[in-house]
Amino acid sequence: MKRKLTANELEGWLDNVRPFARDGKVADYIPVLGRQDPEELAVAIYFMNGEVVHAGQSDTCFTLQSISKVIALALALLDNGEEYVFNRVGMEPSGDPFHSIYRLEQHRPSKPLNPMINAGALVVSHMIHGETPEEKVGRLLSLIHDMTADHSIVYNKEVASSEFETAFLNRALLFYMKQHKVVTGSVEETLDAYTKQCSIEVNVKHLARIGAIFANEGKDLETGRRILPRHLARICKTFMVTCGMYDASGSFAIKVGIPAKSGVSGAVLGSVNGFGGIGVYGPSLDEKGNSVVGLKLLEILSNRYDLSIF
Ligand code: DON
Repeated sequence: MKRKLTANELEGWLDNVRPFARDGKVADYIPVLGRQDPEELAVAIYFMNGEVVHAGQSDTCFTLQSISKVIALALALLDNGEEYVFNRVGMEPSGDPFHSIYRLEQHRPSKPLNPMINAGALVVSHMIHGETPEEKVGRLLSLIHDMTADHSIVYNKEVASSEFETAFLNRALLFYMKQHKVVTGSVEETLDAYTKQCSIEVNVKHLARIGAIFANEGKDLETGRRILPRHLARICKTFMVTCGMYDASGSFAIKVGIPAKSGVSGAVLGSVNGFGGIGVYGPSLDEKGNSVVGLKLLEILSNRYDLSIF
């Protein structure tokens, strides 16, 4: 084991990567997200021994966006089992942008390639048990409360409605999949559940704790309580490796080599067996929708701790 990491050392790394924020751009296709400060930066690491080190604006809250897709997948699998879920969404990386509709037309039946792209994540939200969007999101929030040990986490209503009002592409994906019977029922209700799920607000310490639970094969590190079955934690981490960074998953695997999931808010969740969980926030995004500084920072961390799983 390397020398203990101090918050000062972590601050120093943030100073090194901060200038890279200028190479990217804050997401503005969800209007409210466009107000984020591109220079904001935070990181937290939750080590397997329970120690937490954080630096930067680590109390700043941001929305999970696509990071929610990993936790929603875990819940849909708990609710329905693997056979049901994977009959409706595939297990293969797409190599396409996260919002692409292209592959849906190339496969019959037109099920989405994986649960991390928007098409797949919409099907996953649809599969979460609950009579109403609120009930589905409430159940997802309960799982997140268990994973973070913070029962005050809620979704940001302003971000949710900002996305709901402008999510024409996600509506198109849902209508296409409804035509092909991959989803049933109300498109608006599924979109409502999905946009609320994406708007759940956390900070980097919450993310690091979630990553640590995945790294600890589904068990809470502090209490030893099992939150997810081991095989579900493994499935989630595998999707994070193969699809977590969308069409940048290959280069990320080479440069960083850890299970990770990004969101257009600029957050990244990392999880490494035997090491712990990592949460990063830096809203300036590259052209693939991944945090520019987040990726740089994860590369530094991976080199420092020899984290690559490959
Ligand atoms: O559906 C969307 O477009 C957003 N709510 C989430 C997309 C996202 O986070 C992609 N990640 N990098």
